[in-house]
Amino acid sequence: MPPMHSVSNDLTYKIPFLRWAMLAQLSHSSESSGSEDDYLEEEAEEERYLCLFCEMVLSSCTQLTEHSLKSHKLDLVSAFSGISFYGTIKTINYTRSSHCGVEEFREVLKKSDTLEDKYLKPILSDDSLLMIDFEELAHSSSTQSCSKNGVQESDPRIELLQRKLEKIQQAYLELLESKNNFSEQKSTTDDYFESYADYSIHAEMLQDKVRTEAYRDYIYKNTNIFNNKTVLDVGCGTGILSMFCAEGGAASVVAVDNSKIVEKARKFVKCNNLSDKVEVIEGKVEEVKLDRKFDILISEWMGYGLLFECMLDSVISARDKYLRPGGLVVPNRTSMFIAAVSDEKGYETRFNFWNNVYGFDMSEVIPDLFKEAVVKCVDKSHVISDHCGFKHLDLSTVKTADLEFSSPFQLQIGTPSKLTAFVIHFSCYFDGEVSVVLDTSPECEPTHWLQTVLYLKSPVLVSEGSLVQGNVTFTKSSAVKRGYIIKLDGSISQDNEELGKFCQQYYLH
Ligand SMILES: C[S@@+](CC[C@H](N)C(=O)[O-])C[C@H]1O[C@@H](n2cnc3c(N)ncnc32)[C@H](O)[C@@H]1O
Repeated sequence: MPPMHSVSNDLTYKIPFLRWAMLAQLSHSSESSGSEDDYLEEEAEEERYLCLFCEMVLSSCTQLTEHSLKSHKLDLVSAFSGISFYGTIKTINYTRSSHCGVEEFREVLKKSDTLEDKYLKPILSDDSLLMIDFEELAHSSSTQSCSKNGVQESDPRIELLQRKLEKIQQAYLELLESKNNFSEQKSTTDDYFESYADYSIHAEMLQDKVRTEAYRDYIYKNTNIFNNKTVLDVGCGTGILSMFCAEGGAASVVAVDNSKIVEKARKFVKCNNLSDKVEVIEGKVEEVKLDRKFDILISEWMGYGLLFECMLDSVISARDKYLRPGGLVVPNRTSMFIAAVSDEKGYETRFNFWNNVYGFDMSEVIPDLFKEAVVKCVDKSHVISDHCGFKHLDLSTVKTADLEFSSPFQLQIGTPSKLTAFVIHFSCYFDGEVSVVLDTSPECEPTHWLQTVLYLKSPVLVSEGSLVQGNVTFTKSSAVKRGYIIKLDGSISQDNEELGKFCQQYYLH
């Protein structure tokens, strides 16, 4: 729940990969004891290019691209041209690990930069394909036609040497850059857990009665579910949920948190005489070693717009490792909703204000403001449509891949007004004999998550019965760790006549 503004790329896989690339180059050079020609021949012999889509092994980059074109109808050079360095690496490793076909490959390529960072890690230990500079190839294939038109053809040995040199230079520069960024990355990653060491954040969460009482009521009113069960509390913070579970009849609870708040949690557990039932462990849930499986996994992982903070990834990893088959995840499902909003005054204050600030024009900032997803409380009287559920997650089966998605939505306008924004909110469901719903909609008592507002650049006049049809897309931000990019696109119509269109991207950072 803390606001995150850490700007950095995840380098977790970058360092090992670059080190691997460097070492591969350096070991070749240090091992070469013969003449330069021997070295080049040996090198040339060693190059093997395994096709991305079949078992074919080619002995040169040119043969590989020709094979790909002939057998798979894919021009590798133009396919990768314009794709970023990391996007190319991720796409190659994704394709190798998933054994996907050309069609899926083309789709993956479109969102190559948003692929998970785990695909920076080579699937093959010595994958020559990862060493190809497709931009350079595209460039040299255009200049090669010049050479055929009169310029002397270059010596292939010099070309090979040049390519090797460029690869080493590139790997070296990347390694230097990664080293510089690494200390930055470490500190920003730590920032997340450091922010949870602060009491004020925990006070805010504990004082959010809607949130905390939803968990408490579910546990205390469904003691049949918790009686004699073993529980894993992922991200225990102050240990509040663990203590609820212990009071609710659990046989034992293991509470894990990577923030220094665990030191206090341990003391809270002790002074409330629950040490015999609750064990508090400091560490990332992905890294701690637990020697057993649990009946129940409980966690309060929800961020702004539900998914900001990306803590659900950690819950999924803990579930897959430590929940016994058929075990329960609490809460057990969630839904995300969207609705249309009309708030002309709020719009005026946020945007038009900049047009005339004490007589000065500061409208320069307005385009940036339209890119922000704004976390704020929406007055229920400003909601002018029904609410459309666009993403439902079953916590017992959800996978990390489900946390990036595009979903259609449709809204019916109920109040004639000016459509200025859309609002996103979510609900968490605790199903049981006595079910509990934690609802963050504008119609309910506010929570610390408030709502997430997406303003329209061009507000649209709508009438009763106007129809909004569109898509909402959630993608993890590659620039800001734990952040998301939300895209909205669609149209508004009345009796099949188009009133307006929208296509905007917002940062939930
Ligand atoms: C939203 S707070 C919830 C705290 C507490 N469960 C409550 O309900 O008041 C999330 C907590 O999870 C912890 N956390 C997040 N990711 C974690 C991870 N991967 N491993 C361990 N702890 C994590 C944070 O440090 C933070 O204390």
